[in-house]
Amino acid sequence: MDTESVQKVYNNYASIYDLLFGMIFEQGRMSAIKGLRLRAGDKVLEVGVGTGLSLPFFPSHCNVVGIDLSEKMLKRAKMKINSQKLSHIAIKRMDATMMAFSDNSFDSVYAAYLISAVPDPWGVLAEMKRVCRKDGSIVVVNHFKSSNKFISSIETSISPFCSKHLGFRTDLCMSFMTKDAGLKLIERRRLSPVSLWEIAVFRNLKESTWF
Ligand SMILES: C[S@@+](CC[C@H](N)C(=O)[O-])C[C@H]1O[C@@H](n2cnc3c(N)ncnc32)[C@H](O)[C@@H]1O
Repeated sequence: MDTESVQKVYNNYASIYDLLFGMIFEQGRMSAIKGLRLRAGDKVLEVGVGTGLSLPFFPSHCNVVGIDLSEKMLKRAKMKINSQKLSHIAIKRMDATMMAFSDNSFDSVYAAYLISAVPDPWGVLAEMKRVCRKDGSIVVVNHFKSSNKFISSIETSISPFCSKHLGFRTDLCMSFMTKDAGLKLIERRRLSPVSLWEIAVFRNLKESTWF
């Protein structure tokens, strides 16, 4: 899927997104933001902010910018910012693979249910690393492939189907974040013993890797 198609899909979803994915994914958003351990004055970027379901969980003592490709998703995020008076939060329409921020602009970069849902996870992660300062935090809520060989082979084989019909791939390994992207894994926990989703907290070592 190209960026045009991603926009179209999420523009179409925007009006029902909160109903479908609000409550069921709320715990992940809330706990992941706790994992950022934000200090007063920290600059935080949320990548793929969508309709802004994470925004109420950011403490008001930090400055948050949320970016997304879909105008209709962002419109809903803006409504939450206005109605809940979240004056410490700004949103911008931007492609996560080509961010308009300078290097090292943020102390923390956060992405919930995004990395496996974008056509180019390598491009997105490279940008997250670039705009996050050295030793800053990168926190994701994501599905990573199981370390069990049998389950992992199923996840690899169903990934093209999941990508096409459910909008997220199931074949990304944790080594994509650590070995390939050079991030240091600080903490990793599953939302529940049977959940597909994990919260993973990384330190941005700023190591140059192959992407
Ligand atoms: C599955 S939704 C997750 C939304 C939100 N993070 C949440 O917790 O519900 C993925 C979001 O990423 C956005 N997105 C996909 N590709 C993107 C890109 N290249 N740049 C910016 N946003 C993107 C979509 O528009 C959509 O709002």
